[in-house]
Amino acid sequence: MSVHQKVKRVTTHVLHEMKLRGIKIAMLTAYDYSMARILDHAEIDVILVGDSASNVMAGNETTLPITMDEMIYHAKSVVRGVSRALVVVDLPFGSYQGNSKEALTSSIRIMKETGSQAVKIEGGQEIIESVERILSAGIPVMGHLGLTPQSIHKFGTYVVRAREEEEANKLIKDAHILQDAGCFAIVLEKIPAKLAERVAKELTIPIIGIGAGSGVDGQVLVLHDLLGITQEFSPRFLRRYHNLFEEIKGSVKSYISDVKSLNFPNEKEQY
Ligand code: KIV
Repeated sequence: MSVHQKVKRVTTHVLHEMKLRGIKIAMLTAYDYSMARILDHAEIDVILVGDSASNVMAGNETTLPITMDEMIYHAKSVVRGVSRALVVVDLPFGSYQGNSKEALTSSIRIMKETGSQAVKIEGGQEIIESVERILSAGIPVMGHLGLTPQSIHKFGTYVVRAREEEEANKLIKDAHILQDAGCFAIVLEKIPAKLAERVAKELTIPIIGIGAGSGVDGQVLVLHDLLGITQEFSPRFLRRYHNLFEEIKGSVKSYISDVKSLNFPNEKEQY
């Protein structure tokens, strides 16, 4: 039995050990109790309460509108359904960019009110003061580099990042800065596989990829994309394991038809 199968609770130390032993880390997003419970029973290593909740739960076009109160609501619900996985919560847009004191206040609120075990924050050198201040309070921090969706209006597009040497060099430098500051892991989103592999080899902390190839220490996907609940989003890196949109639609159609034809409820389904 390998280290992550034996553990009662996945911690940042377990993830570090997994990297050392070459055991890949599996991470998914969740935003509610019921889904989080299923993921935890399946023995997912890490659950991310991502600000992608803004897209898949609230129907916003970007991750920017989601608020701290909304993130806390989602995170609290997830934590109630989890007994094994490490739960990481995204710091929402506007909750840490102002100054490091604000970043610390936001992180403390998340940890106190949700019972989660870590926070995730987008950016490198620009937010390092915030990262250091959060870490100084004993709160584990996961970094996020490459395509950082909270900066979508700066990028102007969701295309692959760091293809050019200058941006790739900055990403490598930022990854080292985050590791040196004390981050326990970094998410690399939508960057060339070779670059991600290089970062994973150079760094001692786990590198979790999304659209970053197979040479990293683990993978993360948005649960609703993997299950085929979202339909309009089809990047090359996404593997859909289900078409739940159609399956749920089919079940709802059957229910409607049964209600209208007096087929539901039947004799046995009433008192
Ligand atoms: O919010 C999110 O779901 C994320 C993942 C895509 C890594 O940040």
